[in-house]
Amino acid sequence: MWCLELFLTLLLIVNDASSQWNVWVPRDISAMTNSCVVIPCTFMYPSGIRPYRGIHGIWYFGQPYPQLFPPVVFKSRTDVVHESYKGRTKLLGDLHQRNCTLLINNIGTEHSGRYYFRADLGGANMYTYPDFAELKVLDQPNIDVPEEIVSDESLELTCYAPDNCPDLTPEIQWMYTDYLPDPEFSSDYLEESNTAVLSNTLTFTPRPMHNGQLLGCRVYYPNTTLVYERLISLDIKYAPRSVWVNVSSEVMEGSSVMLHCEVDSNPAPKISWVFGDQELLWDMASNISLSLDDVTPAQEGIYTCVGNNGYGSMNTSLYLSVKYPPREPLVNESMTVLEGTSLALHCSTQGSPAPTLTWLKDGELVGTITADELSVLEIMEITPQGDGQYRCLAENEHGRASSSLNITVEYAPVLLDESKCTVVREGVQCVCMATGNPEPTIEFYLPDLNITINETDSRFNFYTHTDGHTSTGMIKLREKGERLDNGGPAVNVHCSIYNIYGRESILLELQQEKKYMMAVIVGTIGGVAVIAFIIAAVRYVGHNNKKENGNPRQDVVLENPALYYSAVKKDKQNLRKKVLKTELLGSKFNSILEETTGEDGDYQPVGSMAGLERQELNYAALEFIGARSREGASGRGDDGSNYTEIKAK
Ligand SMILES: *[C@@H]1O[C@H](CO)[C@@H](O)[C@H](O)[C@H]1NC(C)=O
Ligand SMILES: *[C@@H]1O[C@H](CO)[C@@H](O)[C@H](O)[C@H]1NC(C)=O
Ligand SMILES: *[C@@H]1O[C@H](CO)[C@@H](O)[C@H](O)[C@H]1NC(C)=O
Ligand SMILES: *[C@@H]1O[C@H](CO)[C@@H](O)[C@H](O)[C@H]1NC(C)=O
Ligand SMILES: *[C@@H]1O[C@H](CO)[C@@H](O)[C@H](O)[C@H]1NC(C)=O
Ligand SMILES: *[C@@H]1O[C@H](CO)[C@@H](O)[C@H](O)[C@H]1NC(C)=O
Ligand SMILES: *[C@@H]1O[C@H](CO)[C@@H](O)[C@H](O)[C@H]1NC(C)=O
Ligand SMILES: *[C@@H]1O[C@H](CO)[C@@H](O)[C@H](O)[C@H]1NC(C)=O
Ligand SMILES: *[C@@H]1O[C@H](CO)[C@@H](O)[C@H](O)[C@H]1NC(C)=O
Repeated sequence: MWCLELFLTLLLIVNDASSQWNVWVPRDISAMTNSCVVIPCTFMYPSGIRPYRGIHGIWYFGQPYPQLFPPVVFKSRTDVVHESYKGRTKLLGDLHQRNCTLLINNIGTEHSGRYYFRADLGGANMYTYPDFAELKVLDQPNIDVPEEIVSDESLELTCYAPDNCPDLTPEIQWMYTDYLPDPEFSSDYLEESNTAVLSNTLTFTPRPMHNGQLLGCRVYYPNTTLVYERLISLDIKYAPRSVWVNVSSEVMEGSSVMLHCEVDSNPAPKISWVFGDQELLWDMASNISLSLDDVTPAQEGIYTCVGNNGYGSMNTSLYLSVKYPPREPLVNESMTVLEGTSLALHCSTQGSPAPTLTWLKDGELVGTITADELSVLEIMEITPQGDGQYRCLAENEHGRASSSLNITVEYAPVLLDESKCTVVREGVQCVCMATGNPEPTIEFYLPDLNITINETDSRFNFYTHTDGHTSTGMIKLREKGERLDNGGPAVNVHCSIYNIYGRESILLELQQEKKYMMAVIVGTIGGVAVIAFIIAAVRYVGHNNKKENGNPRQDVVLENPALYYSAVKKDKQNLRKKVLKTELLGSKFNSILEETTGEDGDYQPVGSMAGLERQELNYAALEFIGARSREGASGRGDDGSNYTEIKAK
C-alpha cells in the first residue's frame, strides 16, 4: 500500500510539470555551413510567477551558468550578443507565447555546440533550463554506409541533408554512379522533434570490381552557390576471385626456384602454398613467394596456392618438374654361362626427362634403344662371341651414366686353323691352337711311338701357352741328318684338346712339301756358304715382305720358316716382347707375350712365321730330346736315335 501511495504522488508531480520550469528543444539539430538553422523552442514557468516588466529570454552557447560568462547568442532585453553571433541571430518565437524559437544565420562549424535558453521573468525569476539543443554544423553531408559491404549482395547507401533553414530547401544528388549496375534512387523526408532531414537512398548490387571506387553525395541549395559534397570509397568484401600462380615450369636438380602467387580478394586472404598434404608457407597477404633452394627430384609435383579470406576459398595449381641427368643404371651382376644359354639382361635407371637406354657390347650397339624405365636385352642361345662386356648406357639431355657387367661364355674346345706341323731346320715343329672356355688343355699324341706329350710329362720339351681362351701347344721333332730323307715311315702327330665341356683329337698335317724339300736340301748339303747366302736372302726378303705382303716370286724362300728361324738365330736377342694378336671368332684377344731364349739356343724367337697370317707368334723352341719310345721307336730307330723321321705326304 505504501508503494502505491508513493507512485501516485510521483504521478501527481509529473502531471504538474506543465506548471514548472520546463523547456522543449530538439536534443539534436543540424545544419549545413553558411546556411541557417531554426532551433524550435517552447518553455514553461511555474504558474505562480507573475512576469514583471514583460518576459525576456537569453540564449547561451556552450554552458548554462551565467556566472561563467558563456557566449551570449541572443538577448532580448539588450540585443547585446557575443562577437561570433553579431548580426546572425534572431528570435522567431513570441516569448509571451512561451515560444523561444531561435534563428541563426550564416552559420559556421564554430557554432557547433550546445545551446541553452534562459527565461527572464523579471526580478529574481530568472532560470536557465538544463535541457539544451545540440547543433551540428556540417560542411559535408552525412552518408550512412553499412559496416560491411559484401559483393553481390544488395547495398543501400543513404545520404542526409538537414532541412532546418526555412529559406533554403536542400536537394540531394548522387555522384559517380554511371559505372554502377542498375542504381536506384529514392528520397525520403524525415521530421522528428521539430527538425527535418532530407535523405536519398541509393540501392545497387556491388561487384568485386567496384571495390575501392569512389561514390559521392552532393547536397546543394538551388539558386545559391551553396554546394556540399562527400566522397566515399567503397570497401567491398569479396571472396578470392582469382589466384594467379606461375605457369608450370621446369628446374634443374640442385638449382633454386621461386614460385609466386597472387590472390585477388578483399580483405587480403590467408594465402598458402600447399604441396601434397603439406602446407609449406602461409601469410595474411595478397601475395606470397615460395622459394625452393637446391631442388631435388622429390620436390617435383603439384604445388597449389590457396587463398581463403572467410568469404570464400579458391586455389590454383602448377606443376614443377625437376630435371636431372640419369642415375647410374642398375644392371645384372657379371655372370658365367654355358654356350647355348638364353638370358635376359635388365637395365633400369631414373632421370628426367626419361633417359634412353642403350645396350653396348664391347663398345658396339646391340639391341634396340628404348625410352622406357627398363631395358631388357634378350640373348638367345649365346655363342662364344657373346662373351664380353655389356654396358647399359642411359642418356638424356642433361647427361649420361652407364653400368656394365661381364658375361663369360664357357664352351667346348674348338681347334683353330693355325694348328699344323711345319718343317724347320733339323726337324718338324707342330703347333696346336685351340680356343675354349675354360681354356683347353693341349696334348700331343704320337701313335707311331705310342707317346702322349703333355705338361706333366717332363721327359719332353713341350711348350704351352694360354692367352685368354686360346691355348697354344708346340712340340718340335728333330731329325737326325741322313735319316730325314731316307724315306722312313712318316710320323703322325695328333693333337688332343679338351676342357670340362668336351674333347677333340685331330691329326695334324705337315704343310708345304716344297719347304720340306728345301729343308732336305739344306740338311743334306749342310754347306756353310749356302746357309750364309740363304740367311742374307731371307733377311732381305723378310724385311721387304713386311712391307709388301706376299711377293709371289719369292714364295719358296720367303715362306720357309726354317730359313727364317736360322736367320734370327744370330740376332741373340734374349728377351723380346711381342704382341700376340689373333682374331678368333670375331672376338679380340690381346696379350703380351714375354719369353726367354731356350737354353738349347737352337731356335730363337722369330718375328714372323709364315702360314700364321697376320699373326706374330713367338715360341720358345722346344726340343724333343730324349724321347725314347717305349716300344715302337726302338724298332724303327736302330741307333736309338732321339730323332724321328718325318715325311711329308
Ligand atoms: C513558434 O514560432 C515559430 C515562428 O514564428 C512558429 O513557426 C512555431 O509554430 C511556433 N511554435 C509554436 C509551438 O507555436
Ligand atoms: C530559382 O530561380 C529561378 C529563377 O531565377 C526560379 O524560377 C526558381 O523557381 C527558383 N528555384 C527555387 C527552388 O527557388
Ligand atoms: C614466377 O613469377 C614471378 C613473378 O612474375 C617471377 O619472378 C618468378 O621468376 C617466376 N618463377 C618461375 C619459376 O617462373
Ligand atoms: C605483395 O604483398 C605486399 C604486402 O603483403 C605488398 O606490399 C606488395 O605490393 C605485393 N606485391 C604485389 C606484386 O602485389
Ligand atoms: C582446390 O579447389 C578444389 C575445388 O575447386 C578443391 O576440391 C580442392 O580441395 C582445393 N584444393 C586445396 C588444396 O585446397
Ligand atoms: C637380371 O636381373 C633381373 C632382375 O633384377 C632378373 O629378372 C633377370 O633374371 C636377371 N637376368 C639374369 C640373366 O640373371
Ligand atoms: C669386366 O671385365 C673387364 C676386363 O676384363 C674389367 O675391367 C671390368 O672391371 C669387368 N667388369 C665387371 C662389372 O666385372
Ligand atoms: C701304348 O702304350 C700303352 C702303355 O703306355 C699300352 O697300354 C698300349 O697298349 C700301347 N698301345 C699300342 C698300340 O701299342
Ligand atoms: C699327361 O699324360 C699322362 C699320360 O697319358 C696322363 O696320365 C696325365 O694325366 C696327363 N696330364 C695332363 C695334365 O693331362
